Amino acid sequence: MKVILGVDIGGSTTKVVAFEEKQRVLDCLQVRAGDQITSLYGAIGHILYKCHLTLRDVEAFVLTGVGATMVKGDIYGIHTYRVKEFEAIGRGALELTGLKETLVVSVGTGTAFVMASEKECRHIGGSGVGGGTLTGLASRLLGETHIDAIVAAAEKGSLRQVDLAICDISNEEIPSLPPHVTAANFGKVESTATKEDFALGLLNMVFETVGSLAAFACKNTEIREIVVTGSVAALPMAQKYLDGVGMLHNVKFIIPEQAIFATAIGAALQYFNLEDRI
Ligand SMILES: Nc1ncnc2c1ncn2[C@@H]1O[C@H](COP(=O)(O)OP(=O)(O)OP(=O)(O)O)[C@@H](O)[C@H]1O
Ligand SMILES: [Mg+2]
Repeated sequence: MKVILGVDIGGSTTKVVAFEEKQRVLDCLQVRAGDQITSLYGAIGHILYKCHLTLRDVEAFVLTGVGATMVKGDIYGIHTYRVKEFEAIGRGALELTGLKETLVVSVGTGTAFVMASEKECRHIGGSGVGGGTLTGLASRLLGETHIDAIVAAAEKGSLRQVDLAICDISNEEIPSLPPHVTAANFGKVESTATKEDFALGLLNMVFETVGSLAAFACKNTEIREIVVTGSVAALPMAQKYLDGVGMLHNVKFIIPEQAIFATAIGAALQYFNLEDRI
């Protein structure tokens, strides 16, 4: 059996997806390592082991992500292609949702916004607020760097202990601003605020920021369904907090089941589309 390995070498983690043929994903996995090269070779070895395959079974590697350019030439003498990350982000999101046109928000270490249609995938901008912001601030505010510990703490937290809401500063009903909406993230840190409250405040700040930017990017367009991918999109509270932003702006956030692997999937799919290879 011949497989195509799509590899997304990101700023924090490397994702690898094994495709048996265009529509069939055999397996996928995510690894984190101190450096991107170790992480790439580790991910390749691990997925082949998991799928009971050897290097002889690999037809091609398709690399994308910020680390893709660090790997020169072919891997183990096997055809190795590099595809543009924004194209992979867009193609992956369209494939996983079946949408023909959407805004894709890839929330990784940082956040990228890509307008994706069957015709083209266009990077419209980015934000430095993403998963890196979450883990960086959590290391100082909570003394935690591991994402599972941050999420576990957030599950017990309360936003009322850290965030300033509209109802805290206004008695008046403002039509476009319901009373529960955040007026300022961390704008009302109570002296009794706990590590758990800070953890939830951080997660919420990331979701509200990327969600609002995405909603603004869709103003004056027909797009009402926004696809959110990347490891941060796969965190348990992502949908709930993005839904809150979506209700304010009349947009819907869709998090595909394979959100973590969307970009690696989008890269591998381009193997089947020769002219996209670079
Ligand atoms: N299992 C995990 N390991 C590491 N980080 C995780 C994990 N799950 C969620 N995260 C969060 O996701 C962020 C990394 O997301 P992701 O792996 O999508 O980024 P990336 O692709 O490496 O980065 P970028 O796309 O910005 O280059 C981390 O900063 C962290 O906040
Ligand atoms: Mg990424």
